[in-house]
Amino acid sequence: MNNNLANIKKSIFFLNKNECVAIPTETVYGLAANAYSSKSVKKIYSLKKRPRNNPSIVHYSNLNQLKKDCEINKNFLILYKKFCPGPLTFVLKLKKKSRISRIVTNNKKTVAVRFPKNKLTQKLLKLLKYPLAAPSANISTKISPVSKDDVKEEFGNKIKFILDGGRSKIGLESTIISLVNKPRILRLGGIERTKINKVLNKNIKYDRTNKKITVPGQSKLHYSPGIPIKLNTLKPKNNEAFILIKKRKKSYKNYYYLSKTKNLKQAAKNLYKILRMVKNKNYKSIVVERIPNIGFGEVINERLKRASAK
Ligand code: TXA
Ligand code: MG
Repeated sequence: MNNNLANIKKSIFFLNKNECVAIPTETVYGLAANAYSSKSVKKIYSLKKRPRNNPSIVHYSNLNQLKKDCEINKNFLILYKKFCPGPLTFVLKLKKKSRISRIVTNNKKTVAVRFPKNKLTQKLLKLLKYPLAAPSANISTKISPVSKDDVKEEFGNKIKFILDGGRSKIGLESTIISLVNKPRILRLGGIERTKINKVLNKNIKYDRTNKKITVPGQSKLHYSPGIPIKLNTLKPKNNEAFILIKKRKKSYKNYYYLSKTKNLKQAAKNLYKILRMVKNKNYKSIVVERIPNIGFGEVINERLKRASAK
């Protein structure tokens, strides 16, 4: 048996025992548990110190499995065909006979679902008899993990097993779109919203301020390295870490580059890795140069704004 298969089997062993396992996805690592078991899902919330009113995303390997739990519609099918598996999460209506634990949905009539792209996690999902609820595998409000070591840093030996699928390719969370009523983007992420607009042939609103629904991470502070961050800065002071979008001719040891050539996708991939690295070097504060507010730049700016909230 090869190593990967052995590790998938180990994951199944723990999940079947109602334990949590960290799983790799193309966006960030998730802390996963049986979405049909309240006993299992409660463990995610206590490990992450996550408020119970923040619902989790359910991960599926195929459409038939998903159809048992939620209602799909035309927009869903269009987006599914184009982007799945991939970094797009859908908020859909829950079916009455759905078996998803009410802890996952926080008793709502809707559920967030997605089809992750990482091969190991796809294989794991295929072999399980239930979908996996999985928020990002970090302590609530902290930086999301993009590698096995990051997950270890968050939880130490408090979790039973980490399925190592290498570094996350996208490096930040999925885009969330609600298809319950009129399509609305609830969180910017791994799929640029211009791409979604193009496929649906309309301008989808980005609406994270709607008070009637729980929107991703209602608390202002999120994705935080735990030290102050200042945006749109030209120069650092002494002892500040300086995060830049493009490599400089003259560099200093407190300079950290999101990309060499102002490649925004690359920068998105490196964002959490660099925030975590800087945090671990014991800087007291971080300043970031201005990042163009387009495409993935918009996603990076949104994450940095939340990470710098007081
Ligand atoms: O890329 C990702 O989406 C990663 C990987 C592991 O899949 N997961 C992730 O989960 O980012 P989490 O829990 O960190 O963020 C999911 C967000 C939460 O902030 C929650 O508010 C929102 O999804 N959410 C979940 N169910 C919802 C629902 N029914 N309506 C609106 N928002 C919902
Ligand atoms: Mg999260």
